[in-house]
Amino acid sequence: MKIGVFGAGYVGLVTATCLAEQGFEVWVYEQDATKAEKLSRGINTIYEPQLTELLQRNLSCLRLHFENTPEAVTNQTDIIFLCVGTPSRPDGSADMSQIESAIHDLVGTVALSPSYKLVVVKSTVPVGTSKWIERIVKLYSKGLDLPIEVASNPEFLREGAAVKDFMEPERIVIGTSTATARDLLSLVYRDFSSPLISTDPQTAEIIKYASNAFLATKISFINMVSDLCDAVDGDVSTVAEAMGYDARIGKYFLQSGAGFGGSCFPKDLRALVHVGEQHNLDFGILRSTIEINQGRPLALVSKLKELLWVLKDKEIAVLGLTFKPETDDVRETPSAKIIELLKEEGAVVTAVDPIGVRNFQALYYGVSQGIRFEENVERALVGKHGAILVTPWAEFTRDLDWSKAKNLMEFPILVDGRSCLDRDHLKNIGFEYATLGRRIRGA
Ligand code: UGA
Repeated sequence: MKIGVFGAGYVGLVTATCLAEQGFEVWVYEQDATKAEKLSRGINTIYEPQLTELLQRNLSCLRLHFENTPEAVTNQTDIIFLCVGTPSRPDGSADMSQIESAIHDLVGTVALSPSYKLVVVKSTVPVGTSKWIERIVKLYSKGLDLPIEVASNPEFLREGAAVKDFMEPERIVIGTSTATARDLLSLVYRDFSSPLISTDPQTAEIIKYASNAFLATKISFINMVSDLCDAVDGDVSTVAEAMGYDARIGKYFLQSGAGFGGSCFPKDLRALVHVGEQHNLDFGILRSTIEINQGRPLALVSKLKELLWVLKDKEIAVLGLTFKPETDDVRETPSAKIIELLKEEGAVVTAVDPIGVRNFQALYYGVSQGIRFEENVERALVGKHGAILVTPWAEFTRDLDWSKAKNLMEFPILVDGRSCLDRDHLKNIGFEYATLGRRIRGA
């Protein structure tokens, strides 16, 4: 089976490469000609473990092709995955213009040479998008009864683990309206042993949003508990560990600290709240999830203030710029707000990240002004009055000799924004160590 993919962004590139690895011949349409050309030469355009190797292998055995026109892909494939972007608009709703434009291109090509096409939406889209696409197909078809069907197949990939998540999914969800569409889409996943949930398109769309919103809510919930622990001298890590043993709760996504960032949780929460409003439903739980998350940077900076009192003119290192390790993605990273708050306090900031510096400078031009950047953590710590760890990169956790780091710093003061370091060890070697969800007095 030949498979088409529209969009070689994060989701599209991983989907296309992994489907090629599964043995399918995959044709990708990427409108950015430079990007399409780079990818054709095996130059990866995103940072994702294992992806470059898979990309190059599948290019060399001619199972993967990148094209710069939609016709080149549409004409020779029956099934086309839509993986274009759906960024947030200022009111929180998703901007659907890239999806609309992809459908316009597709209908134009099918109208010239009609043959069956199953359009599979993989981008994260608001509930009801499949129905909108069916309508747009009709509008652009101008009375022609074109054989185009629409399905939903949400992705559950985590950045930094996307290849593994694609190849070994915990579940596959397909939302289709006809048996033809269901059978064709099931064929794509015939070699996967994961549970396959087959449903209608709108239910599939809801599953994606509900999953992300639930995970984000779990994080904000534990951060709320963390604030209580701070207030009454409890220990949130122990609370989370004990809660996690209850199989109904589960141990994952109970890591308190700097909160969630990235291109998915914040955007999807806003979009779901917006969808709720459109249907006169009040998703207050999600508004609270967003609000709690927005308070995390200030909570971390306040923790540092508890140790340093005055931040003005203090040299502070911020460890980590990406929203999580193993990615170069800095979208909605808590570090941006933390740096902004430190600058407001008059602190002199050095930010360090093994791979995220360039993306951060490009996305947060204003925040980047007047601060120093480093890629090496030891250099970043020299002469510092304090440090806040935001992203738990191995470079800052497993690999860093904190005894050596202590000697580099002016004051051995550390706020661990992910509670990921060994508190006892740090205290033993002379650090004043603080983390959220555990009062400094008891630290
Ligand atoms: C998330 C979902 O986990 C994927 O299933 C989904 O496919 C993806 O969004 C998407 O919609 O495309 P991702 O944003 O890559 O994946 O990252 P996560 O690993 O889920 O982490 C999100 C954020 O939550 C990170 O900033 C992380 O530091 C934070 N987090 C995670 C916590 O603060 N505490 C935790 O316990 C877990």
